[in-house]
Amino acid sequence: MGITAVWVSPPFENVTSVDSDAGTSYHGYWARDFKDPNPFFGDAAAFEGLIDAAHDNGIKVVIDFVPNHTSPSTADGELEDGVLYDDDAYVASYSDDPNGYFHHNGGTDYSSYEDQIYRNLYDLADFDQQEAYVDRYLKDAVKQWLDAGIDGIRVDAVAHMPPKWQKTLMDVIYDRRPVFTFGEWFLGADEYNRRYYDFSNDSGMSLLDFRFGQEIRQVLRDFTDDWYGFWDVLRETADEHDQVVDQVPFIDNHDMARFTVEGGETVNTDMALAVLLTSRGTPTVYYGTEQYLTGGADPENRKPMPAFDTSTTAYEVLSKLAPLRQSNPALAYGGTRQRWLNGDVFVYEREFGDNVALVAINRSREWYEITDLYTSLPPGSYADVLDGVLDGFGTTVNGDGSIDAFSFGPQTVCVWEHAGNTSEPALGRVGPTMGRTGHTVTISGEGFGDVAGTVTFGSTEAEVVSWTDARIEATVPPLAGGYYDVTVVDADGAQSDAFEGFEVLTAEQVSVRFVVDNAETAIGENVYLAGNVHELGEWDAARAVGPFFNQVVHEYLTWYYDVNVPAGTSIEFKFVKIDGDGTVTWESGSDRQYTTPSDSTGEYVGDWRT
Ligand code: NOJ
Ligand code: NOJ
Ligand code: CA
Repeated sequence: MGITAVWVSPPFENVTSVDSDAGTSYHGYWARDFKDPNPFFGDAAAFEGLIDAAHDNGIKVVIDFVPNHTSPSTADGELEDGVLYDDDAYVASYSDDPNGYFHHNGGTDYSSYEDQIYRNLYDLADFDQQEAYVDRYLKDAVKQWLDAGIDGIRVDAVAHMPPKWQKTLMDVIYDRRPVFTFGEWFLGADEYNRRYYDFSNDSGMSLLDFRFGQEIRQVLRDFTDDWYGFWDVLRETADEHDQVVDQVPFIDNHDMARFTVEGGETVNTDMALAVLLTSRGTPTVYYGTEQYLTGGADPENRKPMPAFDTSTTAYEVLSKLAPLRQSNPALAYGGTRQRWLNGDVFVYEREFGDNVALVAINRSREWYEITDLYTSLPPGSYADVLDGVLDGFGTTVNGDGSIDAFSFGPQTVCVWEHAGNTSEPALGRVGPTMGRTGHTVTISGEGFGDVAGTVTFGSTEAEVVSWTDARIEATVPPLAGGYYDVTVVDADGAQSDAFEGFEVLTAEQVSVRFVVDNAETAIGENVYLAGNVHELGEWDAARAVGPFFNQVVHEYLTWYYDVNVPAGTSIEFKFVKIDGDGTVTWESGSDRQYTTPSDSTGEYVGDWRT
């Protein structure tokens, strides 16, 4: 199919008991020991065998990591009380938790961000990541899996953990090995959440693209929205994500009904896969979608594969379009432009450097007359990349970039493309988007040339580790914490556009809980933290960290927030109040001072100074 990576279930040991309602942890999300492999999948050697076999076939391995919780602690005691082991040694369970490794704040009703972070998700024993042992345990565990050779990480339930603690986790991951990491922040259909985008832009990890996933289901599965709605989502996500090409779109997954509807038309699945594979982002395909597996809520959507039929249309669509993602960088890095639109027909273009892909889809049973269509494809004739598999056909582009009017038939997809030969440096992406001095980043694109030129962060030149026409590895130069533009200059002196906002962290990161007592606020006013280091916004109130929380772990008049700060550093800061209009009230008195822990979590408590 042209798949280049596999995302596997959480690979560590889970509870083995059976719950009369919820069944077993066949899915892997109820961990017991994050440092041991799941024996039902195999031992450590088997895991390494998987990695080796995948790598020998040019396939990367992405694991699912679940640092929010262990397993359910249920009233009937049928499961294992959220028990935690550390490399086979018993640590604690939810009812036997003298050191407070878990939150004991009841279950969340999702009424606020704070509520869904610090209370339990369902009955799952919820880790207190701010507790020093838990912080170390989870970070040591992820390092162990990185050392086993994994190439990527999907982080479970990122909407349910302190965002800035997760930033310290990302720092640990990238310091060990800069693997592509993406989080799961579940969004329902039509759900817009400011926090979702803030997390995508600040945490250092990408997100599964639930905006895309839910919308394509409305347009091509449920028919509750049309291409106008889809185009709105494409524009919104392009505006809101700093790096939309780094997000991870999909059409279905193990937490929603399968895309293919029992008794429905499989051509809808075929069309959705064609759109997925030609859209911005790094697409993921759920196992069995290419077999048209059906099923509603889990476990119905998680059935075993009946067979592996390589002659399905869906399989053909994937196997024709996956290679195109490698041969034509317009798909990997290009923006998306609308060329023709109505409720049923969408013609969109992806362009990057001299590379272009033009995709036309008619989801309906109607014929439409397509007039006044223009493209950036150079004049000439183009075959349908899908070879007519979805009833597509070739086209001709005239000298002025127009395509003659044509009749576009029902349930049809055409993909036309031109892979150019970009000679000026065109920068597609930088990954990771966050790091520290000495960390390796990969700069991808086209036209860098075969002879090494230079890479700069701001105005500082970076050391180049490797250089090819489409891919450069460089190390983050010695720089103060801050946001920097990354640019490539080729050997002939031609300069790329800047990649904006690469975040250089001040130092290794640790998580500190800042608590302020007696902070009385007006309605609409919240407490934030501002300080002298990059992580605290360098005294710029517009970059102050927060808003603080005040309902679960501590209650108003006490406010708290878990914040990533540079380790072993003497920092200066103040608490500030900011109201809904952005009016800032600084605390009085001199700047506060605190020396952050060198390798653990910390806590700072103070009284608001009026
Ligand atoms: C999201 C996972 O995808 C889902 O399957 C799981 O049950 C929850 N997180 C809890 O881990
Ligand atoms: C937010 C910062 O304020 C901005 O300066 C920066 O470009 C982006 N984050 C980078 O992600
Ligand atoms: Ca939590």
